[in-house]
Amino acid sequence: MNFTLSTDAPQQIKADCLIIPLFKEAKAKDPQVKLPPKIAKILTDSVQLGNINTDCGVVNWLFDIKECTASRLLVVGLGPASDFTAEKAVKALQAAMASLLQKQYTSAALVLDGLACKALDEAQWVQQAALAFNEKAYQFNTFKTKTAAKKPTLKAISFCMDKGSVKNGQKTLDYALALADGMSFVKDLANTPANHCTPSAIAKTVQEMGKKYTKVKTTVLSVAEMKKLGMNTILAVGQGSRHEPKFIIVEYNGGKKSQAPIALVGKGITFDTGGISLKPPATMDEMKYDMCGAATVLGAIKVAAALNLPINLVAFAACAENMPGGNAIKPGDIVTTLSGQTVEILNTDAEGRLVLCDALTYCARYKPEVVLDFATLTGAMVVALGTHTSGFFTDDEELASALNEASKNSLDPAWRMPLIDCFIDDLKSNFADLANIAPHRWGGAIEAAVFLAQFTKDYRWAHFDIAGTAYASGANKGATARPLPLLMDYLCQRAYGKS
Ligand code: BES
Ligand code: MN
Ligand code: ZN
Repeated sequence: MNFTLSTDAPQQIKADCLIIPLFKEAKAKDPQVKLPPKIAKILTDSVQLGNINTDCGVVNWLFDIKECTASRLLVVGLGPASDFTAEKAVKALQAAMASLLQKQYTSAALVLDGLACKALDEAQWVQQAALAFNEKAYQFNTFKTKTAAKKPTLKAISFCMDKGSVKNGQKTLDYALALADGMSFVKDLANTPANHCTPSAIAKTVQEMGKKYTKVKTTVLSVAEMKKLGMNTILAVGQGSRHEPKFIIVEYNGGKKSQAPIALVGKGITFDTGGISLKPPATMDEMKYDMCGAATVLGAIKVAAALNLPINLVAFAACAENMPGGNAIKPGDIVTTLSGQTVEILNTDAEGRLVLCDALTYCARYKPEVVLDFATLTGAMVVALGTHTSGFFTDDEELASALNEASKNSLDPAWRMPLIDCFIDDLKSNFADLANIAPHRWGGAIEAAVFLAQFTKDYRWAHFDIAGTAYASGANKGATARPLPLLMDYLCQRAYGKS
């Protein structure tokens, strides 16, 4: 898709269709798109006649409009200006993009000039419009031999802007396109089923991605290498599978050599059957998404490299398949982690914390400035916060406020959860240093985070439980690539200082 910024008058733009976002009952002082009087009158008349509904997210088509070169108008309602929010802008933009993609047009122009308001300036409108397009245009057709849906015909979208906003608009557009590309990368990896997306397939994809960027270096640790190092918990989780576990390390060096890296750790369970503590069959297919944490951190490296961020990063993807089998771990097995602490595996379905604990110990070798981990870790997280909000855990107030800020900026909801020390009492084992589950279900997401905290004492750290947000279930089943928008905003804060 070719996105451009334009300062041409909307009525002169050569495109198949003009997209016009419209506030409800706009008053003189409210933001509203700048349109020539003739077109403005058509719209006001249409609203008065009840032909246009300006409720937020409602799409209205007008055809044969002689007053502008693009003779078709897609008018999308924004709702009242008085309680407008950035979230409503996203809703309206996504509705407009979805409707546009239904048509067989090749080009469109979106009028943004005049829409700057408290919720979004023009540059932010550009960013959200590009992301909304990507959200609606994304398809995962790799395994469809008979594509019933028509291929999208749209080739170009231009944004009509005020001259003064073009420079910032171009910056946010470049950012949005790199992020959108990274999100598609994450979605493709995550949507690929587990018979294709094995630990070694992820390693191969990452090595290929890395080849495109000179500042990216990929290392893949094999089973033999992990054995030598003592990464026994990753090996234990993977030992029931025919597909060998892989530990993938991807460095991005865009900053000064002397600068400590930010470490990103991802849970990469390519399929979670639960192992011997087997999961029930309903929706088990969704456990192919149990590698979304790994996909997120790998996607972050890709976006950082595409943007050439002046920052050092190192991502660790702890990849394994959790299967029952003759060689699988059993409840009661005791394993020595890379940290030296022993763990009694009381439930083989609590495998995420097992692969993560070795990864979190290993990453300390890079003397990271801060460590963030991402994992579809607990069903309890989904019970606690639902599917719109990621949960994060940290004892570091400064880090918590930076992450909250990133969440707000990127419109990627996240909520801080408590790390409560006394939860450790429930992770006692009669036979090892730690048990991998508590004897009850309560506060399961916190319990898992507290387990991880036993391995992160040497650095600043936050843990994201993305079990509810990384993918959607039901009719819209698919990866969301969240919380990559939040993560990239945080990394830009770190690269360029707060803006
Ligand atoms: N991958 C699951 C968590 C999960 C559940 C993600 C539902 C997305 C949707 C994880 O490995 C798991 O099985 N966790 C157990 C932990 C329990 C055994 C303590 C869970 O949440 O039930
Ligand atoms: Mn599990
Ligand atoms: Zn899992």
